[in-house]
Amino acid sequence: MNTTIYYFTGTGNSLAAAKKVAEILGETDLVPIASLHETKTRIIPGTDRVGIVCPVYDAGIPVIVRDFLGRLDLSAEPYLFGIVTMGGMGVSALHQINSFLVRNHQKKLDAAFAVKMPGNFPPVGIPPVGEKKKQILADADKSLAAIAEKIANKKRVSPRFSPGSSLLRLLLYPPFARKVHATDTNFSVGEACTSCGTCSEVCPVGNIVMENERPVWQHHCELCCACLHSCPAEAIELSLMRGTKGRGRYLHPALTVKDLMIQQGKNP
Ligand SMILES: Cc1cc2nc3c(=O)[nH]c(=O)nc-3n(C[C@H](O)[C@H](O)[C@H](O)COP(=O)(O)O)c2cc1C
Repeated sequence: MNTTIYYFTGTGNSLAAAKKVAEILGETDLVPIASLHETKTRIIPGTDRVGIVCPVYDAGIPVIVRDFLGRLDLSAEPYLFGIVTMGGMGVSALHQINSFLVRNHQKKLDAAFAVKMPGNFPPVGIPPVGEKKKQILADADKSLAAIAEKIANKKRVSPRFSPGSSLLRLLLYPPFARKVHATDTNFSVGEACTSCGTCSEVCPVGNIVMENERPVWQHHCELCCACLHSCPAEAIELSLMRGTKGRGRYLHPALTVKDLMIQQGKNP
């Protein structure tokens, strides 16, 4: 393997992005960050190119990814790239990765990219559908092909600076990171639930157990919303901000719930 890509995903955008880049690079190992969550020792990639691919949450990175970066052993000085997928505005997440890397590893990303993909947080914005969704995904694919070429050639790419995105991170991210694990108290399940257990199986961090044939959230949530979007009966709602009732659901169309289940380290 020449490249290791560590990824985290809720609804498949970041996994699809990682797969696309891997396909172009060849000889790439895709490793779910969630599968390493219980690993207490340092994580040694052992390849000369290492990538981090994850979604943007509240203008920053998922807390699980931040924790993972702290345990990543970069002493062999691989070429390090980061790709964040976002619904709208999130380049600040790349600056967050850089600040974290400088503090913990005296190193920055060699190349940093932000890719717009369909938004998956209905409490704030209804996920795109139809032609709009198709266009966003087609544009993302094109960007990812260009990104993969740069990575293949080990190009150096600094993240763009966006004052708006940086301000959002300053305001939104600290309370998000403090409270995220307990935000699952805002999930509820309705009568339409068929007890199929998909929510529990797709949760990347194993935060949902089935009790009396109903999902029960265990308060170590990352708010990735995989449960919300994967429920075949649309029986799950999230009562934050504008809520999720009638506000659409989204999973990356090229992936199935089985692809998402791999993150828990299980082979479905
Ligand atoms: C809790 C949460 C917060 C989010 N915050 C942002 C944000 O600040 N900026 C943004 O552009 N997109 C935001 N999004 C949208 C996701 O970053 C975007 O849809 C991403 O591609 C999802 O990736 P995934 O399918 O790999 O989970 C947020 C999504 C969630 C679930």
